[in-house]
Amino acid sequence: MTSGLDAARLDGLRIGFVGAGRLGQALAWSLAAADLPVVAVSSARVASAMALATPIPGCRVMTPQLLVNACDLVFVTTPDAAIASTAAACHWRAGMAVVHCSGVTEVAALSAAAAQGALTGGFHPMQTFGDPAVAVRSLPGCTVTIEAPEPLDAVLVALAQRLQCRVNRLPPGMRARYHAAAGYTSQFVNVLFAEAARLWATWGASEAQAVEALLPLARGTLAAIGSAGIARGMPGPVSRGDVASIAKHLEALAPMGEDMLDRYRTLCQATVPLAVERGAIDAGTAARFDALLAAGGPHPPA
Ligand SMILES: NC(=O)c1ccc[n+]([C@@H]2O[C@H](COP(=O)([O-])OP(=O)(O)OC[C@H]3O[C@@H](n4cnc5c(N)ncnc54)[C@H](OP(=O)(O)O)[C@@H]3O)[C@@H](O)[C@H]2O)c1
Repeated sequence: MTSGLDAARLDGLRIGFVGAGRLGQALAWSLAAADLPVVAVSSARVASAMALATPIPGCRVMTPQLLVNACDLVFVTTPDAAIASTAAACHWRAGMAVVHCSGVTEVAALSAAAAQGALTGGFHPMQTFGDPAVAVRSLPGCTVTIEAPEPLDAVLVALAQRLQCRVNRLPPGMRARYHAAAGYTSQFVNVLFAEAARLWATWGASEAQAVEALLPLARGTLAAIGSAGIARGMPGPVSRGDVASIAKHLEALAPMGEDMLDRYRTLCQATVPLAVERGAIDAGTAARFDALLAAGGPHPPA
């Protein structure tokens, strides 16, 4: 029974959500705002399910099994640890579809549904979902990674397009590596800001002052990466072959402790091959940076 799974007839697709948290609410509201029928929700707490359902006309709160019975496509938007048990707890119809939205969990977590003939897949929006109302605004323009067999693949692509999102493909077995990659441009950015704010604190600046000053700089770097690419868009002294400035940085950071100095060295070492790649420095200058930054290399005077 595949009648509900037709990419050309999305308006007849009955969509349900199990898990009414940050992502579930934002995705359900976004789909409903795109005139797609989100008809049912279930969650561990009725209050969460109500919070998702209330702004969506025709969306009803029900048990997971009644939701599965009432839908053609079910989004499992529980925490990752509950995806497999949620799939195993329900009876699924052959030809219906169930997807999860995790970046790191393999689609095989839904194998209990697949064993009953349901089509299973992954639909991972590459975006941070905090406050759902804010996340709804940040969804258009972001990328959704889709991993699913046909005809589910075509349906999920059409849904992503209705949400004004780009589509990325991922082969099976790559989700953990893919998710680790995403971390470099999400939580590791927080780490870099925390490191910078620690330095600002040494002359009495607050975190808010540091963030206010550093955000436009970060945005400028992101814009340069977008327009010129990773290597060609890289700013900073290494990209100018300025060895003396890096030596001053090491000297200034030494009193902050070996941990901070080590992280600075590691990050700075990684900028050297990028500067070589963009043709900004030659092999000799790269070697001077490498010698200065080597962990066992010359330490600046403390
Ligand atoms: N947040 C993000 O930035 C983000 C980004 C991309 C992907 N994701 C993925 O999206 C999924 C959901 O993450 P989230 O951040 O939205 O989590 P969340 O805010 O913690 O929400 C999870 C929701 O699931 C409900 N729940 C927990 N166990 C359940 C169960 N056994 N049955 C039914 N409902 C259950 C929770 O219950 P209550 O009813 O008690 O509230 C909660 O509302 C995860 O797979 C995550 O990896 C999240």
